[in-house]
Amino acid sequence: MKNTNTNNQNQTNQHFPVLLTAVLRYLQPKKGESYLDLTAGYGGHASHVLERTLQPSTSTLVDRDHNAIAYLQEKFLGRGIQIIHQDFLGASRELLKAKRQFDLILADLGVSSPHLDNASRGFSLKTEGPLDMRMDQTQSVTAEVIVNTYDEVELRDLIREYGEEPRAGKIARLIVEHRPIATTTELAKIVAQAWPGHSKVHPATRTFQALRIAVNSELDQIKHAVPLWVDLLAPGGRIVVISFHSLEDRIIKRSFNELAGDRYDAVLTLYTKQPVMADSDEIVFNPRTRSAKLRAAVKQK
Ligand SMILES: C[S@@+](CC[C@H](N)C(=O)[O-])C[C@H]1O[C@@H](n2cnc3c(N)ncnc32)[C@H](O)[C@@H]1O
Repeated sequence: MKNTNTNNQNQTNQHFPVLLTAVLRYLQPKKGESYLDLTAGYGGHASHVLERTLQPSTSTLVDRDHNAIAYLQEKFLGRGIQIIHQDFLGASRELLKAKRQFDLILADLGVSSPHLDNASRGFSLKTEGPLDMRMDQTQSVTAEVIVNTYDEVELRDLIREYGEEPRAGKIARLIVEHRPIATTTELAKIVAQAWPGHSKVHPATRTFQALRIAVNSELDQIKHAVPLWVDLLAPGGRIVVISFHSLEDRIIKRSFNELAGDRYDAVLTLYTKQPVMADSDEIVFNPRTRSAKLRAAVKQK
């Protein structure tokens, strides 16, 4: 676990915390409570929670992205908050080993606005950049490796499973035919050939989602981490998870349902039977909230 403390460069891109009112309603942060933010990003949610708990010394912020960590270190400099540069699965394992417990846990999954806005990170299909898509810039697998080295069947299965793309076979064939592919816009144009004619969303959106999930092992991270988060929660503690696509939400829903219910061994009580979504005002203000789904629960005492 990298427990980082250095001051670092400024990050100017903005990220607005999504579903903030609902996050605060379900976390119910109170003075003196400890807070674990597993995807602290640019500290949007964290600032609002910490303003209410006034308990920085028992709070931990985690992110796997170096730029986010550098920003958090500067933002919360001198406050005594533990800031961890690691993926949340590894960080959760180590926090459990250290016998930590938290009253409030938040996971706001996926990418941040600076990921999408910074073309050099390779997440956006609209701006030209390298085929990167790593949230943790120190890992070796990039989207370029997957696009240029996986065989056609592996690519087809990945695009079908993680992108829920009906034309995955055709797209995999087009990718293999056009290799090597170096940039995001080049890939987007190649994928678009599988969907001639008009479509509302860019035809490469699902393929980009699939690659991003694969590069960052996103679903495996979530699947294995949710039970650990519940172990890290103190009795009476609240957990909120926000997801951005149906594959993530399905895992959260299933995990929460397995841990809740009216069984003798249930550990959670659900606050949300149906996920909470942004209203039209928030979507107009911040279109990235359109697909956000929030689920919340409390750990039984
Ligand atoms: C939607 S942003 C969070 C924004 C934050 N809540 C805020 O208000 O500023 C998601 C963040 O989670 C991080 N992230 C995604 N998956 C992660 C993982 N498995 N482990 C650690 N961080 C992760 C990303 O790097 C990104 O910074």
